[in-house]
Amino acid sequence: MRVKKKKHGAERMAACGDIVISDLKIAEKNPKNLFPNDNEVRIEIGCGKGDFIVGTAEKNPDVNFLAIERVHDVLVMAAEKIKASGLTNVKVCCCDAKELTELFDAKSIDRIYLNFSDPWPKSRHEKRRLTHRNFLEIYKTILKDDGEIHFKTDNRGLFDFSLEEFKEMNWMLDKLTFDLHNSEYMENNVMTEYERRFSGLGFSINRVEAKKPL
Ligand SMILES: C[S@@+](CC[C@H](N)C(=O)[O-])C[C@H]1O[C@@H](n2cnc3c(N)ncnc32)[C@H](O)[C@@H]1O
Repeated sequence: MRVKKKKHGAERMAACGDIVISDLKIAEKNPKNLFPNDNEVRIEIGCGKGDFIVGTAEKNPDVNFLAIERVHDVLVMAAEKIKASGLTNVKVCCCDAKELTELFDAKSIDRIYLNFSDPWPKSRHEKRRLTHRNFLEIYKTILKDDGEIHFKTDNRGLFDFSLEEFKEMNWMLDKLTFDLHNSEYMENNVMTEYERRFSGLGFSINRVEAKKPL
């Protein structure tokens, strides 16, 4: 996602107050320390402008959410949206997925959402795909034993690659569809910015849930 440098990005982020985790390491790696209750914690990696996390947190007030995004100027827009929503069960953090095992205790996260992750179509860049087996190992470490990844994308090449990676790494697949918007799983769907744009252009949306291997 190309984003113009935001004016006053640091001040705007600071104005979002306590929903912004400026240093996850301070939270002693236990994500429960970030929230005032013991509810389960789910993370979205690459949250973009935040439509999905706001919609999902509104539907699930008894779940805590942490939106992760590596581009500060994109995260500002998500943070402002969350702040304006008045939600108290969502926080944001500017960090990279590759750091997750340094930021969280093992087996501390209940679910990971990956929505419209960058496809990195060139094979020499495949290690950058967020469903590459190296990332799956990171997710396996931080997820609880019954943890899951919920993944959706319009990009069929990335989806096929991801299904292979999940299978090779022994993740169990469930609720697989190549056309989410015409499937039984649409009822609980929360759209992302990319999903609205690409489904509007006529692309079908692929979705799968992957359960952590034992
Ligand atoms: C194509 S956009 C999709 C945004 C949003 N999820 C949506 O569906 O509208 C992918 C987002 O993932 C973020 N991203 C890519 N790699 C990342 C990483 N390693 N760690 C954290 N965020 C990442 C990008 O900065 C970008 O905002």
